[in-house]
Amino acid sequence: MDLLPEILNRYSVYKFREEPVPSDALERILEAGRLAPSAKNRQPWRFVVVRDPLLRQKMQEAAYNEPGVGQASALIAVCSTNIDYRMPNGQLSYPIDLSMCAAFMTLQAVREGLGTCINATFNEDEVRDLLTVPYSMRVVLLLVVGFPAETPTVEHNRLPLARLVSHEHW
Ligand SMILES: Cc1cc2nc3c(=O)[nH]c(=O)nc-3n(C[C@H](O)[C@H](O)[C@H](O)COP(=O)(O)O)c2cc1C
Repeated sequence: MDLLPEILNRYSVYKFREEPVPSDALERILEAGRLAPSAKNRQPWRFVVVRDPLLRQKMQEAAYNEPGVGQASALIAVCSTNIDYRMPNGQLSYPIDLSMCAAFMTLQAVREGLGTCINATFNEDEVRDLLTVPYSMRVVLLLVVGFPAETPTVEHNRLPLARLVSHEHW
């Protein structure tokens, strides 16, 4: 099947080399997030980039020592500026909008030869304090970005399409 190589080669990375993420690559990853679609094009997001080693160490603690968080040379806190907007279907838009952002960023990171892990295991209040995120906003995801320390065989452990797709009815 002819799929984008970035989709085929993306996997969650939990061990990183110390080598810093080049600034231009990081810029393109952020640009990919900026170009993500959002409900009504509201773009309810802000990206806080963390590269300082001491701050990354504190972020690791706020993330309950999740593997890779303090090790990767960059973290992007994907934050929401509007948590109230509901789409016509009744669902909140911000978790979906920010997921689109994170997905675009992960794919651009693959293009840059970098590894990522999307992380939601963190104490939001602690991260908020560390990054001085205003209280009206939310820290939704941490995107961990760095050079992978290992290159595992990419095995996409996913349900087969036959179990996911039906036509014309459920
Ligand atoms: C919304 C979201 C939250 C996630 N949170 C965590 C997390 O807190 N810790 C973690 O180790 N992995 C986390 N992951 C990574 C998933 O566990 C991983 O994507 C999944 O197991 C599939 O593996 P793959 O990314 O290698 O294809 C998260 C992924 C998503 C999309």
